[in-house]
Amino acid sequence: MGVYSELKPHTISATSIKKLKPRAIIFSGGPNSVTGENALGVDPQIFELGIPILGICYGMQLMAHDLPGGATETADSSEYGQAQIEVTDQNSRFFQNMEDKQTVLMSHGDFVTQVPNGFKVTATSDSCPISAMADPSRGFYAVQFHPEVNLTAEGREMLRHFVFDIAKATANWSMDDFIADAIADIRTTVGDQRVILGLSGGVDSSVVAVLLHRAIGNQLIPVFVDHGLLRKNEAQQVLHALGDEFGLQIDFVDASQLFLSKLAGVTNPEQKRKIVGKEFIDTFAAEARKYNDVAFLAQGTLYTDVIESGTDTAQTIKSHHNVGGLPKDLQFKLIEPLNKLFKDEVRELGEKLGMPHELVWRQPFPGPGLSIRIIGAVTEQRLQLVRDSDAILREEFAKAGLDRTVWQYFTALPGIHSVGVMGDERTYDEAVTIRAVTSIDGMTAEYAELPWEVLGKVSKRIVDEVSGINRVLYDITGKPPATIEYE
Ligand code: XMP
Repeated sequence: MGVYSELKPHTISATSIKKLKPRAIIFSGGPNSVTGENALGVDPQIFELGIPILGICYGMQLMAHDLPGGATETADSSEYGQAQIEVTDQNSRFFQNMEDKQTVLMSHGDFVTQVPNGFKVTATSDSCPISAMADPSRGFYAVQFHPEVNLTAEGREMLRHFVFDIAKATANWSMDDFIADAIADIRTTVGDQRVILGLSGGVDSSVVAVLLHRAIGNQLIPVFVDHGLLRKNEAQQVLHALGDEFGLQIDFVDASQLFLSKLAGVTNPEQKRKIVGKEFIDTFAAEARKYNDVAFLAQGTLYTDVIESGTDTAQTIKSHHNVGGLPKDLQFKLIEPLNKLFKDEVRELGEKLGMPHELVWRQPFPGPGLSIRIIGAVTEQRLQLVRDSDAILREEFAKAGLDRTVWQYFTALPGIHSVGVMGDERTYDEAVTIRAVTSIDGMTAEYAELPWEVLGKVSKRIVDEVSGINRVLYDITGKPPATIEYE
């Protein structure tokens, strides 16, 4: 919403918050129970600061638990999914100018059974009688549902009401200012020294590359290691988009034969991941040694990565990736220009820097690449099967507009051979599965409900065009219990 905000751990003291002079505080959701053993609390003085507070899910339960008169309970069964709530307080500023009936996303096990003194119920539903509550005199608002996700139809509007109407915050955090400040900072830090960057073609490292290039031109050395496990034409696309279009002088290392030889015959999923990780670092380090005048290593670390590695309570999603495990003889100072941004802001930054939409809005792609989409041994020939079938899937998804609604979609080789008939001939070929999921952050996912025509077309094209595939399957498992990738 263009308002500068910071994420703080729940252990922050009321005194420290006061020094930050925030317009408002939002208590986030979380997986714990306020009455359970691992309950995370806040400094009770926070409620005395006179600062508006919005509690979401766990945050609402926390308010009910901590403030006098309130109470929470654990439900017999959790509620997860979209629900209808009814706004019961027509004067509520949080729900102002909205229809009484609202579709929201509920995702909770506990619920508030009694509002604290001074609060009243502002929305209700059959399964969650206290869906929202408020004490406008203190600027305290709380919702059991999740206004921050798209599945809450008017969620963004509700948040705007809190941020701008109730908390009176100002939207003065603009991407243009960020770019100007970041460029000035980078120039001051780097001076006339050189910076090396591991380019993966993913969103974060590509955006860092373009930003740094704008700041320091060819003092930046972007190194792109092709491990041979990329999607069809991926290396060429990245080289073209960043090299030809943006003028970056990319040090391209084709290490595909090396990686494939190390992976030969390896079928264990974890072993594959470890091999790719180690070879990547070794290859990058070997390349970095060629430049003996480099002082900095740039990384696409995001604000979320900083938070995840910086607190005891945020659940670890991913430990620091990129080239964190570099050997000791390479002593670089780190430069992380995205470490105050969230993913959506990085995408906005990319767009502002004039990067192509396809590059900025790419679906996530795992570091170990196609090796973990091939169950069993990775061979040149099997890579070809995944690459070609995946390219067809992506083409058909783009034609049907599904690339904008489905979070991640790809094909994988489950390692099944089966009998088929093509023309008059018996075949005994591999099957390919289609994986297409909707998700918010990759932590959980639902299989996407796809139109039969699209599935049919993809299936027909794959068996027609990819020699070596005679069967196409659609994977309809969520995460949990499955994961998005196959290994
Ligand atoms: P899973 O398969 O665990 O994946 O459900 C969740 C999300 O993370 C991506 N993924 C990775 N990303 N390095 C990455 O940068 C990895 O090793 C890796 N493994 C999985 C996956 O594509 C999905 O988006």
